[in-house]
Amino acid sequence: MPTPPLAQSAICAPAHGHALFLTFNRQPECSPEHCRLQLGQIALLLDQWASRDPAARNCWAIGIGVASWASLIGPRQPRLLAGFPQFANAIHPAPDTPHDLFLHLRSEKQDWCFEAGQQIESALRGSFTLASSTAGFRYLDSRDLTGFVDGTENPEPDARPSVALVADDDEFNGGSYLHVQRYVHDLERWRELDVATQEKIIGRTKQDDQELDDDTKPENAHIARVVIEEDGEELEIVRQSMPYGTVGGEKGLYFVSYCKTPATFNRMLERMVCNQQGPADRLLFFSRAVEGGAYFVPPKAMLAGWI
Ligand code: HEM
Repeated sequence: MPTPPLAQSAICAPAHGHALFLTFNRQPECSPEHCRLQLGQIALLLDQWASRDPAARNCWAIGIGVASWASLIGPRQPRLLAGFPQFANAIHPAPDTPHDLFLHLRSEKQDWCFEAGQQIESALRGSFTLASSTAGFRYLDSRDLTGFVDGTENPEPDARPSVALVADDDEFNGGSYLHVQRYVHDLERWRELDVATQEKIIGRTKQDDQELDDDTKPENAHIARVVIEEDGEELEIVRQSMPYGTVGGEKGLYFVSYCKTPATFNRMLERMVCNQQGPADRLLFFSRAVEGGAYFVPPKAMLAGWI
């Protein structure tokens, strides 16, 4: 099943070669009505620009910061709206660095992401200020910068709507709970490890991307922390993460997940950063979250209703 038209297009789309992740903060003097009007208008513009080059599969999503929902959108809110999780007993950082807006641009072409990002930044000036801009790129055959394939066990595209989209029969139907985290990898220390040790940290083989069997996969492997069964079913999120970085500067993974409930990301992250339900994720000794946020991506009809 393709992404239903009621959902914003970046949520369920198959992997792209490029992305641009933008965060914005609202200018206090801008009224909520004017902010919403601007968001409705840029949604229309993004659809127009995206459709000009079908081969590039341009798509986008706009998320509203959870803490900003009431003041920006109003008192009616998605049923499960929840802030970025905080864990008192975490041994790894998972900072919440909230913003009012998150814009996710995706394309096969870097220039589309760049141009759309520039136009939106200038269209929003006066109501929202750009806080950060991070370009994501496909690395080799969809590998994270650690050298491991990332995205293999993502739900197949036609299963994504049932994982990522709110299905309640209400005004938020087609919306999605979005979590983002910017991770900075310590690649120098990572590369000092031999491949067998790296594989034990991820829980999969490096070259041919096979899951380690249960006898060899340690409890603190990344895969062992994030695979959670509940009532015989594996909990799922749709990950749209991408590597980012500069030569000589910070680099790592811009983690992005969409889900019909915020609870799934929260549970996975808890098992990664805490030592309570088994050992914390060993990967986090080699990669550190430096930013994070929880957003709700409203259904498209809601954006259209703001014009
Ligand atoms: C799987 C890397 C953070 C959830 C994977 C895989 C890699 C990977 C290489 C295996 C291939 C695949 O199935 O995609 C990373 C890196 C991270 C990171 C480098 C940050 C430094 C996270 C976070 C979450 C998460 C924050 C959720 C809170 C998952 C899930 C899977 C997965 C659900 C699929 C597990 C399965 O079904 O086998 N990740 N990940 N990851 N990751 Fe991460």
